Amino acid sequence: MKLTISVIKADIGSIGGHLCPSQRLMETVNAYVTEHGANLLLDSYISYTGDDIAIVSTHERDPNDAEVHKLCWDAFMAGTRAAKDQGLYGAGQDLLKEAFSGNVRGMGPAVAELRFDERPNEPFLFFAADKTDPGAYNLPLYLAFADPMNTPGLMLSPGMSEGFRFVIMDVNYTEGDRVIELNAPEDLYGIATLLRDTERYVVESVWSRSTGEQAAAISTSRLHNIAGKYTGKDDPVMLVRVQKDFPATGEVLAPYAIGPYVAGAMRGSHQMPLMPVPLNSGISYFDGPPVVSCAAFAMQRGKMTEPVDAFAHPFWDTVRDAVARKAIDMRRQGFFGAAMLPMSELEYTGIMEKLKTLDERFVVRAESTHALPHRAIATARVG
Ligand code: 13P
Ligand code: 13P
Ligand code: MG
Ligand code: MG
Repeated sequence: MKLTISVIKADIGSIGGHLCPSQRLMETVNAYVTEHGANLLLDSYISYTGDDIAIVSTHERDPNDAEVHKLCWDAFMAGTRAAKDQGLYGAGQDLLKEAFSGNVRGMGPAVAELRFDERPNEPFLFFAADKTDPGAYNLPLYLAFADPMNTPGLMLSPGMSEGFRFVIMDVNYTEGDRVIELNAPEDLYGIATLLRDTERYVVESVWSRSTGEQAAAISTSRLHNIAGKYTGKDDPVMLVRVQKDFPATGEVLAPYAIGPYVAGAMRGSHQMPLMPVPLNSGISYFDGPPVVSCAAFAMQRGKMTEPVDAFAHPFWDTVRDAVARKAIDMRRQGFFGAAMLPMSELEYTGIMEKLKTLDERFVVRAESTHALPHRAIATARVG
């Protein structure tokens, strides 16, 4: 059976600033999808991660289907009305366009979709992150799909021996989709060269080279490119098919034990470690730390089982403790150096006005004391 898994997520308002959505908001979105999606969807699952609500659905339409996207857009609109009614912060935050036009790409909500022939058993993982951007998945995906140190399946599983193809997007390019296809293992250094720059290059999809099947889909939207200013972090979602010719669930999850520093947290402007958290977790310390949740599913004819909360296992408590320590360590240096994002990322925030007024107050001295020693040296050399 050919089917599509779609995940569409948005921040449409939250309690106490950017912590988490209200119960009524969740119920409103859920009720809307259940009622209006009855004849369109095979199944759906709604959860939140931080202040973002994700709608996971299965259906027989193609990716970017107008009706599926409109259903989710309208569910978020209904939620926004509830959020306004409750006085939630940032009601409708990610709904950046007035009217729906075909699909939600470029309108604010994040989208990841996978279309495939359902296997007799179909395990897949749904990831959602808050207070960070899509580059947060670069390292976990590289390790899961390209590094035998993390993924023994690259050595042990015949279906994985040919490696995986990475489709990487240049998210700074706004005229269209600028992408490159690179194959692991041959292009490993090229993949690493791009993926280290998480603000510019992000993995959009990963494909099996043995079967040609798509293994992973990642949302790549950068909200500041749509809005032209800072309107919140992108808070990316991701779908990953696992087992058989794909990495095992454990191989996809393992990299999150690193708790790597990613862009995000307070005002989307900092470097903070990524904490794996249980489903439906809110946000706390310093509008962070950036969090990632993972729901594991099995599926039959598009009907999903209940989700298994992949990061709820006691193992991840130790990781969370380590990430909390890393977060506190980084915060000790406040705005200094590596603690904040580079200017290229901050240019969408109010810091630009501040720099402008400061720039006007700069003066150039008539006599440069600073340059004197250099001049003296230059003269000495000539002499
Ligand atoms: P099981 O023997 O539990 O199916 O595990 C197989 C496997 O490859 C796990 O990584
Ligand atoms: P969100 O993108 O999750 O709304 O966070 C915005 C923010 O600025 C938090 O400090
Ligand atoms: Mg928010
Ligand atoms: Mg958010």
